[in-house]
Amino acid sequence: MSSIPSDPAILIVGASRGLGHAMAAEFVARGWHVTGTVRGSTPTPLHNLAQQHPARVAIETLDIDMPEQIAALRDRMSGRSFDMLFVNAGTTTHDEHVRIGTVTTDEFVRVMTTNALGPMRVIEALQQLVPAGGLIGAMSSGQGSVANNETGLREVYRGSKAALNMFMRSFAARDAAPKRAMVLMAPGWIRTDLGGDKAPYTMEEAVPQVVDVLLAARAMPGLRYLDRFGRTVPW
Ligand SMILES: NC(=O)c1ccc[n+]([C@@H]2O[C@H](COP(=O)([O-])OP(=O)(O)OC[C@H]3O[C@@H](n4cnc5c(N)ncnc54)[C@H](OP(=O)(O)O)[C@@H]3O)[C@@H](O)[C@H]2O)c1
Repeated sequence: MSSIPSDPAILIVGASRGLGHAMAAEFVARGWHVTGTVRGSTPTPLHNLAQQHPARVAIETLDIDMPEQIAALRDRMSGRSFDMLFVNAGTTTHDEHVRIGTVTTDEFVRVMTTNALGPMRVIEALQQLVPAGGLIGAMSSGQGSVANNETGLREVYRGSKAALNMFMRSFAARDAAPKRAMVLMAPGWIRTDLGGDKAPYTMEEAVPQVVDVLLAARAMPGLRYLDRFGRTVPW
């Protein structure tokens, strides 16, 4: 007797608004079950999505800067399985022009913790939820490319995403024959609170392409640093 395959499921960390929320909506539109995380108890666009699709969207709470919250989420998710785990949460400096030599230690630690350490803590803690054939991803940035940095600016943000890329490579290198796909996504410069008004692309344009790339990448075990057209970004 053959069983009916269940709809695929994704856990998106940092899905309250912006790209994470838009990804949640896109995966729902494609028939996926989405568990998305938010910080705190304030209603967010993800709550609206959950109201529209109560059978498809579940909400969990997580601040990726808080190891005890990561451990609590791991315990709550114990026994669950997700076809994809995607860490979208990220931040930037309050002043994007601040140089690495003049940024305050507090600001440096804040950005590095949220953009590099937090995502890796989440991935290490939750990786068992993703079986062989699944995908573990994180939202990097084209700004994280060391090779492509010929214009400077956003120095601390760039460094944090380059650090994320390096930590993800270290994570991937632990297994010589990985059975899961891993993606560092460089989505392009997109109009969000973080991207700002000058960004050339809208979420409506970019997010379906991001999702297309993640879906296609599932067939390719191992780590890739990809843009939203599926092209490899120089490390
Ligand atoms: N927009 C772009 O042009 C662009 C380009 C390349 C890469 N990215 C990356 O894409 C990701 C999303 O960016 P966005 O443009 O959508 O920015 P956004 O609108 O500012 O959204 C940031 C998201 O990250 C969450 N977040 C921040 N700190 C968190 C923490 N400590 N714990 C849990 N969640 C946290 C936020 O939650 P709250 O609502 O609770 O604050 C929000 O859901 C980031 O990693 C960013 O670096 C963006």
